[in-house]
Amino acid sequence: MSDIRTLPGFREFYPEDQALVGHTFDIWRQACRRYGFREWNSPVLEPLELFTEKSGEEIVRQLFNFEDKGGRKVTLRPELTPALARMVGAKANGMPKPIRWFAIGESYRYEKPQKGRLRAFYQLNADLLGEAGPAADAEIIALCADCLLGFGLTQADFRIRVSDRTLWFRYLASLGIPEAQATAVLGVVDKLERGAPKDLLEAMTAALAGTAVDPAQALVAARAFANTKSLADLERLAAGDAAMTERLGEWKHLLATLTALGFAECVTIDLTIVRGLAYYTGFVFEAFETGGEARALAGGGRYDALVKKLGGPDLPAVGFGMGDVTLRDLLELKKLLPVYADGPDFYAMILGDDARAAALEDVATLRRAGFRVEYNLRDGKFGKLAQQAETAGAKYALVYGGGEIAKGVTKVRSLTDRSEAEVPRTDLVPALRAVLEEGMRAIMP
Ligand code: HAM
Repeated sequence: MSDIRTLPGFREFYPEDQALVGHTFDIWRQACRRYGFREWNSPVLEPLELFTEKSGEEIVRQLFNFEDKGGRKVTLRPELTPALARMVGAKANGMPKPIRWFAIGESYRYEKPQKGRLRAFYQLNADLLGEAGPAADAEIIALCADCLLGFGLTQADFRIRVSDRTLWFRYLASLGIPEAQATAVLGVVDKLERGAPKDLLEAMTAALAGTAVDPAQALVAARAFANTKSLADLERLAAGDAAMTERLGEWKHLLATLTALGFAECVTIDLTIVRGLAYYTGFVFEAFETGGEARALAGGGRYDALVKKLGGPDLPAVGFGMGDVTLRDLLELKKLLPVYADGPDFYAMILGDDARAAALEDVATLRRAGFRVEYNLRDGKFGKLAQQAETAGAKYALVYGGGEIAKGVTKVRSLTDRSEAEVPRTDLVPALRAVLEEGMRAIMP
């Protein structure tokens, strides 16, 4: 046999894994619907240009791109946001605002496969478009938290670390760093926690080339700002700077809304978060397991310029993406993965060919009534069939032998305690519904 394996970073889903994927999607969908979000979708394969222009360098390095047979430059989607911006942009003028949309789909990034990072992963995206104020950011952060809480996690299990590219830009301006250099400086801020001092200084020197700002001093100032953890400390830092003080007013609105919605415990201020994607413009955030080393559970933020850049109207937008990989690791750790139980409701044990036609008639009736029913495809003895019924994961067997057929009954057998009772075949649907709800006592004489 040839040994052709899956590609690195791609997963196969056996039924028990696929059941978990289904569970994850269910919880995500339920949370999004509770917030009034509507589901959308878009192609997995897209023109390369959709991402090279909009997502930023890091993602472009990770594209699964190639030329199709028609000579088009195409790529598997690494994320959903540019497609969303294109779709909303094309019809935005006729849409009632704000627009609340969510999507669940697979995305592909050519990253180094490692714990929490694969090359193909499922992602939930939820986005709110058409509202520029912090109320929309709060709504998105609240939904992100509720998507995690839906799995049985508590607010103590994760932290949503909120930061702000607008505040960073205003702070860097107060240091004399012009807007043109600010994005490169944020690239250095992104590495503050991991980078060696020498590399950071080198990167800051490169970022500030052509300005009069001293890189060493800028580094110290950036570190102090990044480590500010409370609104009160930020207000002290902003004192006398009108632009920063004005922005802190929006922070108060954001935090007060999140507190009113009941999310004060899981939301923290963390200005070390700046986000790798190029399109973010305002508040940004990432969700992490509390105290853990694992990679982010979710990430998002405001991207007010993207819809217009993709040919649509000027439409403010904010959203987040949540992946299934780190989420599954966390749920496993917290023992919150549901037990896989996928057996049928009933297993019909057909004993002898004479009983088969009548038994199949009942199987078909029960399936049409919505029950999950399996039966033995081949004839077999009682003991073997009882074993098959248990292996299939059924709780009850329906015994069809010559005697039962002659009497016009079906024998229902509990596979847990082996108790048995007969039910007239004409009453089968209501009787079995009662058995599923109340157990065998519903039909015991
Ligand atoms: P992102 O931070 O690149 O944002 O991805 C969001 C989440 O997707 C991550 O926090 C992680 O859970 C998951 N994820 C990303 N890459 C991988 C990977 N290679 N393997 C496993 N999981 C991964 C975005 O994608 C933005 N488009 C989110 C957004 C929506 N912003 C606004 N709207």
